[in-house]
Amino acid sequence: MSVEEIPLFKVLMAPEAHQEISAVMRSGHIAQGQIVEDFEQRLNLALELDKRQQALTVNSGTSALHLALHLAGVGPGDIVAVSPMTCAATIIPILHLKARPLWIDVDPITGLMNPLDLRAKLAAFSLPHDSVKAVVAVDWAGTPCNYPAIRAAIRESGIRSQLSIVEDAAHAFGAKNEHGTSIGLAPYIDNSIDHYVCWSTQAIKHLTTGDGGILLAPPYQTERARKLRWFGLDRRSKTDFRAGQQIEEAGYKFHMNDLSAAIGNGNLKRAVRAVSEHQANASFYHHMFKDLKRIHVPPWHGGSSYWIYTILVDDRDSFVEFMKLRRIATSQVHRRCDEHPAFVRDDACSRAAGTWASQGLDFFSKHQVSIPCGWWLSPSEVGYIAETVIKWANS
Ligand SMILES: Cc1ncc(COP(=O)(O)O)c(C=O)c1O
Repeated sequence: MSVEEIPLFKVLMAPEAHQEISAVMRSGHIAQGQIVEDFEQRLNLALELDKRQQALTVNSGTSALHLALHLAGVGPGDIVAVSPMTCAATIIPILHLKARPLWIDVDPITGLMNPLDLRAKLAAFSLPHDSVKAVVAVDWAGTPCNYPAIRAAIRESGIRSQLSIVEDAAHAFGAKNEHGTSIGLAPYIDNSIDHYVCWSTQAIKHLTTGDGGILLAPPYQTERARKLRWFGLDRRSKTDFRAGQQIEEAGYKFHMNDLSAAIGNGNLKRAVRAVSEHQANASFYHHMFKDLKRIHVPPWHGGSSYWIYTILVDDRDSFVEFMKLRRIATSQVHRRCDEHPAFVRDDACSRAAGTWASQGLDFFSKHQVSIPCGWWLSPSEVGYIAETVIKWANS
């Protein structure tokens, strides 16, 4: 066993990525071009999408979320129902679009959006003057939320406006839904409510492009999204995009470039394998920890990508210290977002819904902690981590 700390995250850079990126560097073309197109075709296959769907790359998961909210029609004064147990990146685009977050409670054990609380909150906002435009749910650790229940909550809420689901799948590359199919495919099969999926390909994700993101929009929005990611101009058109085109809708500078796409192309195969490695380690932990006294483990989800392996412990400070002394990195990864002053100044909960009930969030955010479970761990390291966790639980 090495004396260095076992890390919680590691950058996965396949040898093929070095070759792909040096070819692009030598080519003289590094902006968005054919390499991005190739990467997107490969992503369609890796994400097991339907022929009518198209994965669109962007320069970050945050940009994917921002673009999805824009496409969903979110604008000034609108309300976006969102899980506060997430990265700040989930909330910031809502604020930049001048909308207000409506905090929805999470399950105390999984940290995933609680559809019953969503239903209650949406019912409270079903007045004609209110405009709830989107529900942003976060696939914590790579485990998909219960989208059938979220869709049912939306349908039963009495909300009359067009309301979209934005799935923050930043952790969930390679994840599958409750039917065992790609999380990208499910929203298309059930197309009664617009559903956007946003992945991140930032440095430490299963699939990295350095920084980057992937947006899957409902098929009728794909071409609009393709333009909006680059100012509102059509790079594929025969009409010169420098001076020949007019912008009908103001877009963003959110596109991916060929350098990032080359890294993605080189890493894609290895990343798919990495998901299985994370899942195998998570399965071992699940089996080892499920009956321990001081620890709760979330129910097993066969489709989770297990980007992180999150457990709930009765005394987090003592757990973190115990693991640190034994050279094992742990982390909360994200803190609850309803505590950031910048996010609550204008949140819809304190403004309109009164004090918000957050029992699930209170419990999850107080007790959750993640332990290393990634592709970089040797079998002996996985065994050592499990043994150490069990030692703490029995102490
Ligand atoms: C839950 C969640 N959403 C969004 C993001 C933003 O992704 P990016 O860093 O690619 O912008 C992250 C980043 O890790 C995240 O963890």
